[in-house]
Amino acid sequence: MSREFDYTRIPDLPASVFVAPLQKPAGLADDWLEPAQREYGPAEHRIWDELYARQMQLMPGHACREFMHGLERLNLGRGGVPDFNQISEELQGLTGWSVVPVPMLIPDHVFYYHLANRRFPAGNFIRSREQFDYIQEPDVFHDVFGHVPLLTDPVFAGYMEAYGRAGWKALKYNRLKALSALYWYTVEFGLILEDDQLRLYGAGILSGPAETVFSIEGRSPNRIHLNVDRAMRTDYTISDLQATYFVIESFRELFHLTEQRGFEPIYESLAPAFQYAKTAALDTDHIYHRGTQEYELRGGRGSGARPV
Ligand SMILES: [Fe+2]
Repeated sequence: MSREFDYTRIPDLPASVFVAPLQKPAGLADDWLEPAQREYGPAEHRIWDELYARQMQLMPGHACREFMHGLERLNLGRGGVPDFNQISEELQGLTGWSVVPVPMLIPDHVFYYHLANRRFPAGNFIRSREQFDYIQEPDVFHDVFGHVPLLTDPVFAGYMEAYGRAGWKALKYNRLKALSALYWYTVEFGLILEDDQLRLYGAGILSGPAETVFSIEGRSPNRIHLNVDRAMRTDYTISDLQATYFVIESFRELFHLTEQRGFEPIYESLAPAFQYAKTAALDTDHIYHRGTQEYELRGGRGSGARPV
């Protein structure tokens, strides 16, 4: 019989598990939460407003309907960086989630702990004007505009909690890398079919202009139906457009493929390293579009290759 985990505490890191050695800023407790959201100045609020306006030109017809609905319910376009207490109050009533401020990327096991308890850690800073188009670290715009609207959807909200809980088991089997790949290919860069049309639900795409059209219409990337086991074995790109996108039919399907099937049998069968290249299209895949990979092959970002 498998041992039950206590999700109310930060999971122990088994000695076998390696996590990135992030330096916790002085004064923060083990949960990495900042005591309060910081006060933003007028110039910073303006950056939010401009990023918001730019994304909203692209979202209709590209973002999935649950995302658009969530944006509206939380009124994230009311002006300026949203107040976490205010959105948390609204989310509480809908799905029991809240948004909590963190100074930077936090260690995986701490992140899982918050998700398992329906708390979404969001960056307590906003990008500068110089970083307007691209920022590597997730700031408040990526985290709140990209991730939070879908937390209003009960099924997706359930998936996020289940994902957090899956972290405990991944630690036990030392398969954090595989679980991160799943997060990447669903929560960050996932596509969903809506009335036979591809739409976005991944926050990494929704929070920036570069990938919206490329992911849905580009001829370079693969678009493959999500198979959780397959996605967990697949390498991914961190700071460029993806070579492969995984597609789901509904959030109910996503929830079913993960939580209801259970992660344990998958962890038990996975090798420590990724098995498939990010550009791979396999005979066993259900392929919607076999990518030419020309963007990737020409060198990607910085090479002058066109994102087609
Ligand atoms: Fe993110």
